[in-house]
Amino acid sequence: MSAVLRPTDTETTPVRLDSNNLGTLHITPLDAPLGARVSGIDLRDRPTAAQVLALKAALRRHHILVFSGQSPSDQQYLDFTLHFGTVFTSPRNAPVLGSDPYGNTPDVVRVSNVDDGLLGNHELPAHADHHWTPQPSAGSLLLALEVPAQGGDTTWRNLALAYDALDEATRREIDGLQLITYNPFLRSKKPLPGGKVDYRTPDIEPVTPWVAHPLVRTHPDSGRRALFLGEGTEVELVGYEPQAGAALIARLRAHLLQDRFAYTHRWQVGDVVYWDNQITLHGRTEFNPAQRRVLKRISLSGSTPF
Ligand code: OGA
Ligand code: MN
Repeated sequence: MSAVLRPTDTETTPVRLDSNNLGTLHITPLDAPLGARVSGIDLRDRPTAAQVLALKAALRRHHILVFSGQSPSDQQYLDFTLHFGTVFTSPRNAPVLGSDPYGNTPDVVRVSNVDDGLLGNHELPAHADHHWTPQPSAGSLLLALEVPAQGGDTTWRNLALAYDALDEATRREIDGLQLITYNPFLRSKKPLPGGKVDYRTPDIEPVTPWVAHPLVRTHPDSGRRALFLGEGTEVELVGYEPQAGAALIARLRAHLLQDRFAYTHRWQVGDVVYWDNQITLHGRTEFNPAQRRVLKRISLSGSTPF
């Protein structure tokens, strides 16, 4: 009889996080409400099991990881990233940044104001990537190749801290609410006569398909509760009186945008930031269009928020 590997055999194999396998990897928390700096790892190399596990644990704890001095090729960048999940794909009827009319998105998206890149030089309000899809991205990475002399800084916000800092009455009020986040790429095909809105009221025709997610989301790995709401995307609370809903969302947005929940990253060439979209928002300042800013983004797939 040949030996059979029963599930319990693998379950009881101890995971050895011994320091030898970590190599020179070092993780230092930033002096900020979220984030850690990662040193001693080269994204061109295959990470060890201990390194992957340490990075996952650090992401769970700090929500964003900042690497510097990196120069992976697209393939090396992708190979490294795929240790943490699979590349995000969107349903065909839910366009996202970089998707073509068939719903296909390149694995590595060029975020740049030059040479056919995406997102230009304008400010980006704080958002979680692909929030408006049924399974929003679990996490994304940006690699900086060219950076402007000023502007184009990216700010991440800690949505778990923002939730924890709400008063108890507000937490009770919003726990259990469902929030529709309308797809801005669909809305941009059907612009509103009065300009952009950040809360849909009944007089406005909704774009479809739309999807509702819990306004207070539970992180699928850590179990932490987070206020899952973007800064400027068109939203609507399900079953809520419109005026009261708009007022509540405006109040929650003002709350989560406070500096005490934020870390701003000033990019250097060779920086990589890997962030958790399930518990943070990110947005950026505008920059001079005469200057070049070139980054490469990979977004990982996620799961249904709960
Ligand atoms: C993105 C994004 C921010 C930036 O690529 O998803 O939000 O700083 N980019 O360019
Ligand atoms: Mn983004």
